[in-house]
Amino acid sequence: MQRSIATYRDKPVGTVAARDPEQKAVNYDQIFTRDFVVSAAAFLLKGEPEIVRQFLKRTLELQSREKNMDCYTPAQGLIPASFVVRTNERGEETLEADFGNKAIGRVAPMDAPFWWLYLLRFYTKATGDAELARLPRFQNGIRLILGQALPPRFDMFPTLLVPDGSFMIDRRLGVYGHPLEIQALFFAGLRSALELLTNTEENRPYIEAARRRARQLREHIRCYYWVDLNQLTTLNRAPMDDYGEGSGNRFNINPNAIPPWVIDWLTEEGGYFAGNVGPGRMDHRFFSGGNLLAVLTSLAAQHQAESLVSLMEYRQNDLVAKMPLKAVFPALTGKGWELLTGSDLRNSPWSYQNGGGWPFLLWLLAAAATQTGHREFAKETLAVAETRLNADQWPEYYDGRNSRLIGKEARLYQTWSIAGYLTASLLMQKPQYVTWFRFLEEID
Ligand code: GLC
Repeated sequence: MQRSIATYRDKPVGTVAARDPEQKAVNYDQIFTRDFVVSAAAFLLKGEPEIVRQFLKRTLELQSREKNMDCYTPAQGLIPASFVVRTNERGEETLEADFGNKAIGRVAPMDAPFWWLYLLRFYTKATGDAELARLPRFQNGIRLILGQALPPRFDMFPTLLVPDGSFMIDRRLGVYGHPLEIQALFFAGLRSALELLTNTEENRPYIEAARRRARQLREHIRCYYWVDLNQLTTLNRAPMDDYGEGSGNRFNINPNAIPPWVIDWLTEEGGYFAGNVGPGRMDHRFFSGGNLLAVLTSLAAQHQAESLVSLMEYRQNDLVAKMPLKAVFPALTGKGWELLTGSDLRNSPWSYQNGGGWPFLLWLLAAAATQTGHREFAKETLAVAETRLNADQWPEYYDGRNSRLIGKEARLYQTWSIAGYLTASLLMQKPQYVTWFRFLEEID
C-alpha cells in the first residue's frame, strides 16, 4: 500500500489502483475515488490522516463547479471517478481528472460524490478535525453535490435513476435504473452531509431537503427493496396491472419473474435488499456492497440488518466461498449474460464483476459484521482470505463459482485488495472504530 502512494507537489495525494509489475497499467495508474476510500480507511486506522486530507482537498479542487448546459462538460457538483498526476512541458505537476469522459465504456461516476461525502465524514470522525469540513470551500462543495443529487428528475421516486455501470460495477451488467449500490451510497452521502453542513442561513434549505430525502429514501428501500419469504409470498400473489395510488403491486412486478433460486436460497429468518427495483423490474441478485453499506448506514432497519448479516453468514459458501466476497450473486449466465452484458467476455459467468470474488469488500463485511455482533463470521472470513491473498500477491479479483482461481485479467498488487484486508484486520483489533463508518438509526 505504501508503494501505491502517489504524490503531488511533494505531498501524498492518493493511492493508484494497482502496482502490478507485469501487466500494462491501462488506467490502473489512476487514483480512483472509490478505491481510495478503502485505502483511506486503512490509513486512518493506522493513524496516518495526512494523505486523506490531501486527497479530500485536491478532489474538491477538481469538482465540477460550473453550472452549464453543455452535455460534454461534467455536471455541476460531480467529483471525478479518478485522476492522475501528470507533469507538463515546464516540469510542473498537474492533476488530470476523468469524469467518465475517458473511462472505458464512457461510464458515469455517479458514486464518486457520495463516496467523497462519506469519506469526509469518516475522516472527521477519525481525526476530530472538524475544521476541514467547515471551510467555506468544503461547505460549498457539499452544497454543490446536494444541488446535483436532490432536484426532481424524470421519475417520482426518492431513489436515483442512473445509467448502467455507474459505480463499482463499471460495465454493462444490467445495473442501470435504480441499483441498490447507488441508493445505499446516496443515503450514506445524505447522512454525511447532514452531519457536516453547518447550520447557516445558506445551508438550511439544503439541510432540510437532505433530511426529507434521506427519510423518504429509507422508507422506500426498507419497504420496496426488502426480500424475505413473506415478501416473496406477497409478491407471488400480487395483482398485475393495478392502477392508482393504492395499488397492491406498486411497480407492477410480474410474479413469474421471481427467479427460482431465490426461493430456496432464503432462510426462514433471512432477508436482504434486492439489487434493483423500478417499473416492472425487481432484480433479485444479491449485491454485497449495497447490502453491507445499508447495514452500516442504518438504511436497513435493525431487524433487517440482523437478518441480512445472518443470511450472509448462513450462505457463506456462496458469498465468501474460497475468497471473499462476491460483488454480486449469482452470476448471469446464458441468454441473460448475452443480453444484459452485451456478451462481455470480461464479465463471463462467475468471472470479474459477474460473480467473481473481490477481496476489497472485506472491509465492509468486517465493519457490518462487527456492528451486528457477528464478529466470529468476520474473523472466519478474514481467515479464508489469509490462506491465499498474500501468497497470491493481492489479486484484484478471483474467478469461478467458488472463487478458486486468480481472475483472468486480475491485476496483482491491487491496492484496494490490500487496503480492504488491512482495514478489516485493523477493525478486528480495534472494533470500537466501527463508529467512524456507521450511522445510528436516528436521522439528525
Ligand atoms: C475496475 C473496477 C472499478 C475500480 C477500478 C480500479 O474497473 O470495476 O470498480 O474502481 O477497476 O480498481
